[in-house]
Amino acid sequence: MELVTTARRLASRTAPLALLADSVTEVPLVDGSSTRFVNLDYAASAPPLAEVHDVVTTSLAHYASIHRGQSYLSRVSTATYERAREIVAESSGARADDVVIFTRNTTDSLNLLASAVPGRVVHFDIEHHANLLPWRAGDYGVVPVQSTVDGTLLALEHELERRPAALVSVTGASNVTGECPPLGRIAEIAHRRGARLAVDGAQLAPHRAIDLRATGIDYFACSGHKLYAPYGGGALIGRRDWLDDAIPHQRGGGAVVNVTIDDVEWKPSPARHEGGTPNLAGAVSLGAAFRALGRLGFDAIREHEMSLYGRLLAGLRALGINVARLWPEHDDLVAVASFNVPGYRADMVAAYLSAEHGIGVRGGRFCAHPLLDRLGFAQAGAVRASIGVGTSGEDVDAIIAALDQLLHRGPSWRYASVDGYTSPAPDPRPCTDRILS
Ligand code: ALA
Repeated sequence: MELVTTARRLASRTAPLALLADSVTEVPLVDGSSTRFVNLDYAASAPPLAEVHDVVTTSLAHYASIHRGQSYLSRVSTATYERAREIVAESSGARADDVVIFTRNTTDSLNLLASAVPGRVVHFDIEHHANLLPWRAGDYGVVPVQSTVDGTLLALEHELERRPAALVSVTGASNVTGECPPLGRIAEIAHRRGARLAVDGAQLAPHRAIDLRATGIDYFACSGHKLYAPYGGGALIGRRDWLDDAIPHQRGGGAVVNVTIDDVEWKPSPARHEGGTPNLAGAVSLGAAFRALGRLGFDAIREHEMSLYGRLLAGLRALGINVARLWPEHDDLVAVASFNVPGYRADMVAAYLSAEHGIGVRGGRFCAHPLLDRLGFAQAGAVRASIGVGTSGEDVDAIIAALDQLLHRGPSWRYASVDGYTSPAPDPRPCTDRILS
């Protein structure tokens, strides 16, 4: 009896935790056969959850103009759009006077915040380009991450002491190492030094509960396409005052109270920054995703993903492969593993995994060039495997078996550089559009 229970528990731990809209996709291999697609690239973009897909489909069946029409469906669509805003606020622990602005993605959200910040911005040197480049339009400082979390926080404190800043902006979880800086402690340091805290939550939001009020985060940016809601939506959540003082992010209809030929009176946030007809599917899918992940429970998500991550690390270690880490002692991380396979360029490994095994990973520099340089991956790039609620133990075993084969037998196909990017040569897989034609 005990054995049966244990076996069931183990089996359930390695099955996907949630249904995706299309959980079994067949993909062609270069040898002419086909196989089940093994998605280990959740950190780049996650497919929609079945629940999110269903909500979006229903909302589109009632689609009409948002904020602009008297028709019944217009009123329904507007109410759905605004309910999505409330769900995002509730799910992220937003304060009563915070505002949720719907954007395109995290990059868009942080560009909006960059136009609103009334002073200097400080960030770490490990950030994704979305949390590096927007700040370069103004005054900014960079804090090099140290070999421990404590050392890193001390360096941040020294930087803020040396030169005050209006905003500290950090990643919630690194898209390269998965490591999560301690946001509560960073908020405390920032606030003590008179700065606010913004979090690039693209990688964190799919894996952890967010609570702005409890953590002290002032601004949180996230992307639907990483949150099992790839319908072109994202959000910036946070304090209203800077956003109401900022120049409108998208100037156009819907963002204004009144326009004359010489003048314009802008609305307050969120409408101020949402000019043009809003993206209903983007907003609704984001609300549905926050709600669906909350129902699954972030403890269950964490347990599922970290047990698979442990399995991945053990398999890689057995092959002599170590994953990149900034703070080896730090145990707060999401299931993202970046590594090198000895003897092979990262894009070659990614091409091989796809062409010969139907496995999706990312190979390259992950829009985090300074961090990749720092980690010693500047030349060859890195391979990144990332895990989500749709990942199974079978998926993890598949990549380990494929890497084992690569290391011990080499590839079975020929590969060549095409436009600087390694690809199968030739690549006989049909790669034409299968949806629109
Ligand atoms: N920022 C995404 C990634 O890390 C695209 O892959």
